[in-house]
Amino acid sequence: AGLSKAFNVADVRALAGRALPRPIRDYLEGGADDEWTLARNRAAFGDWVLAQRTLVDVSVIDPGTKMLGFRAAMPLMLSPTGMSQLFHASGETAVARAAAAAGVPYGLSTMATTSIETIAATGANRYFQLYLFRDRELTRALLERAAAHGYGALCLTVDTAMAGNRERDLKSGMIMPPRFTLGSLMSFAGHPRWSLGALKNRSFQLANVIDHVGDIGSAGTSVIDYVNAQFDRTATWKDVEWLRSQWSGKLVIKGAIMPGDCLEAVDCGVDAVMVSNHGGRQLDTAGAPLDYLPAIRDRIGDRAELIVDGGVRRGTDVLKAIALGANGCSIGRPYLYGLAAGGEAGVERILSIFRSEIERDMGLMGRTRIADITAADVDHLSQFRS
Ligand code: FNR
Repeated sequence: AGLSKAFNVADVRALAGRALPRPIRDYLEGGADDEWTLARNRAAFGDWVLAQRTLVDVSVIDPGTKMLGFRAAMPLMLSPTGMSQLFHASGETAVARAAAAAGVPYGLSTMATTSIETIAATGANRYFQLYLFRDRELTRALLERAAAHGYGALCLTVDTAMAGNRERDLKSGMIMPPRFTLGSLMSFAGHPRWSLGALKNRSFQLANVIDHVGDIGSAGTSVIDYVNAQFDRTATWKDVEWLRSQWSGKLVIKGAIMPGDCLEAVDCGVDAVMVSNHGGRQLDTAGAPLDYLPAIRDRIGDRAELIVDGGVRRGTDVLKAIALGANGCSIGRPYLYGLAAGGEAGVERILSIFRSEIERDMGLMGRTRIADITAADVDHLSQFRS
């Protein structure tokens, strides 16, 4: 009911806020330290204005494009997020189905609560996001499963050598997976619909890694403890070269934002960089993807695709990023808001909001094809201030 009256991402976010118990909402929304980078990701889009060109024939608009080797109905994809069943019992499966229906690629996280195999069965255009665990055999096993199940791209997240300092989670005592003690049941009692769904959900676990390294919460550990215990801190560019030799599909680096790092990635043979600071959840006071994007495109030319990830909430954000050199954008929290607000239908709603915004905004810019959008379509605010 609420979804049909949700006209933008902010409306769906408000619905999600009401559906989720406080500790879950904080886990979804939170960033590191003072959440400066979280805010900067949004604010960076406000530093640019779009060129409004008039009296162009915009009767036929095509927002379609290609990203990571996939045809995409619009220049938007879904970033990998861990533990989606926390937000709705239908979890990653609902997200992948909605992505398939909307014709956009979906990234399955290593930390997902649904298996590589189950998501393959949804038929979505899919890529697999990898974290390097200390256990290298686990990495090999994940690569084999992803290749065998038709994942077209492998995406290595490189901004998580250590867990970010998410103080909201420290305060709420986010222990995963939720163990329904009397105490936690009471704290979730204010959200009976969420709690009932969670109680009925017997499949909540880290579906892709549990057999190798166990589950979060198996020893009462927090997400932060788990990441620090399991992820491989010794990883360097040599490991990217190694991955390149092991994976024949598209290879993507997620979490580089400095132009020099992006160039290094391209030199290692990656096909795309997701320019990202993990949605402000890792190094606080790091810059926004948009802050570095023009310089990155300058450094790497056409040698790789660039996908902007973080703070994308409007069609105009997507079009600004493309004008500044991106091939497309990717979203995390927005589709999780949809998932929390209404399962698969909620994710569909978010994607249809982006789709209609992108089409309408292209028409109002006087641009009918993504390939026609260039640096001539944006101006930096400072030009107007001087
Ligand atoms: C994430 N992100 C993430 N990234 C990743 O590579 N692997 C993961 O498992 C996760 N998990 C995860 C969980 C949650 C709840 C969030 C909000 C984010 C980061 C994600 O892929 C993406 O970079 C950000 O979400 C993008 O920023 P926005 O769109 O949320 O502002």
